[in-house]
Amino acid sequence: MQDRIHVAVVYGSVRDGRLCDRVGGWVLAQLDARSDVSVSVLDPREQRANGYAALKGQLERADAFIVVTPEYNHGYPAALKELLDAAYTEWHGKVAGFVSYGAHSGGIRAVEQLRQVFAELHVATVRGGVALVDVWDRFDAHGALTEPEAAQRAFGTMLTQLTWWARALRAGRRIAPYAELAS
Ligand SMILES: Cc1cc2nc3c(=O)[nH]c(=O)nc-3n(C[C@H](O)[C@H](O)[C@H](O)COP(=O)(O)O)c2cc1C
Repeated sequence: MQDRIHVAVVYGSVRDGRLCDRVGGWVLAQLDARSDVSVSVLDPREQRANGYAALKGQLERADAFIVVTPEYNHGYPAALKELLDAAYTEWHGKVAGFVSYGAHSGGIRAVEQLRQVFAELHVATVRGGVALVDVWDRFDAHGALTEPEAAQRAFGTMLTQLTWWARALRAGRRIAPYAELAS
C-alpha cells in the first residue's frame, strides 16, 4: 500500500548481551500486525560497524521513528547520541515515539532528555509511549513479554498518535519542503 507510514525503529544500545534486541523484537512484532505501516530498523551497532554512509537515505525514507532505548545513569546511551548526530536535515519535519526500559524508571529520564534533542532536530515527539520497569523481569524464556496487556495498550495509543502526526507531516512536507523553514 503506497499510503503506508514508514516507521524506522531506532535501537538505543550497542552493549554485548543487550536487552534492546528483546524489547526491539517485541516492538517489531507489534508493528508486524499493522497493515498501515512499513518498517525498517536503524541499529547503532550496525551503523558503527559499517559506517554512517547509508544512514541519511534511511532517514529520508522514514515518516516516523520509534526509539527503543534503555536508560544509562539517568540518561540515554552514547551510541544513540552518535547515531542522532550523524545526520541533521534528514530528521527534519518527522515525528518520534518512544519505547523505553530500565530499572525503576523504565527509562523515562532517557526519554525526557531525548525530547530535547529531537526538538533541535526538528522532530516532533508524541506523548504516548511504553516504559518497561525492571526490564529483565518482563520477558519469559522464549523472549515473550509477560503480562503484555498494559504494554500493548500503551503501544497502541503511541502508534495512533505517531501515525496521525506522520500523515499530517508527510502532507505538510509535500506542500512545502521543511528545509525552507529550518534555520
Ligand atoms: C551503565 C549502565 C547504567 C544504568 N543506569 C540505569 C539508570 O540510571 N536507570 C535505570 O532505570 N536503569 C539503569 N541501568 C539498567 C539498564 O537500563 C538495563 O540494564 C538495560 O537492560 C540496559 O539496556 P541494554 O541491555 O539494551 O543495553 C543501567 C545499566 C547500565 C549498563
